[in-house]
Amino acid sequence: MLPTADEAMRELELAGELNPGPWVKHSVNVGIAARKIAEKISSLDPEKAYIVGLLHDIGRRVGIVDIPTHICEGYRYCMEKGWDEAARICMTHSYLRMQEEFDSEPDNEREKMIREYILHCKADDYDRLIQLCDSLAVDYGFVILEKRFVDVTRRYGIMEGYIKGWETAFAIKESFEKEMGCSVYDVLPDIGRTTLLTPKPWKPGNK
Ligand SMILES: [Fe+2]
Repeated sequence: MLPTADEAMRELELAGELNPGPWVKHSVNVGIAARKIAEKISSLDPEKAYIVGLLHDIGRRVGIVDIPTHICEGYRYCMEKGWDEAARICMTHSYLRMQEEFDSEPDNEREKMIREYILHCKADDYDRLIQLCDSLAVDYGFVILEKRFVDVTRRYGIMEGYIKGWETAFAIKESFEKEMGCSVYDVLPDIGRTTLLTPKPWKPGNK
């Protein structure tokens, strides 16, 4: 079950009023990227791709929170609404390597809940699509993977697990490109211009 695209957009706007930030435009761009890629792949539904892309970070509606919190809040919120297909993406979008990311038992309840979910989940094409688009979409448009990875590393520092995820992201990109018959970058509007922009990192309180 999913909301309509209009309902999903209204949810995102409402969440943006509760917790303003670049994550809202990033979410819109994840939706657009997912739809553009899905339009080139006959087994994917572009409308579903757009909706789950819009809602993947909806857990950020509760405020400025860490990764596990926005994931659990997004999952809980979408399940309460009955949108199980969007709830699933809230859970899977940050874990490109899925089960491999959870080799040890976490010590907090939220991460335990996520681990339990991921250990029993086999990634499908929508999971992989939003994992990829999360790395292609920024608030000001679309960028190549290499740029996004460096931006995130500059902000959060080097994390070994994150770097391992780069390989997975490139593998996902290549597998979709085989089905598309073109580059992922060919379908992302204006990526040649936006990928060369380097805006200052956003800080809470900035517009
Ligand atoms: Fe995201």
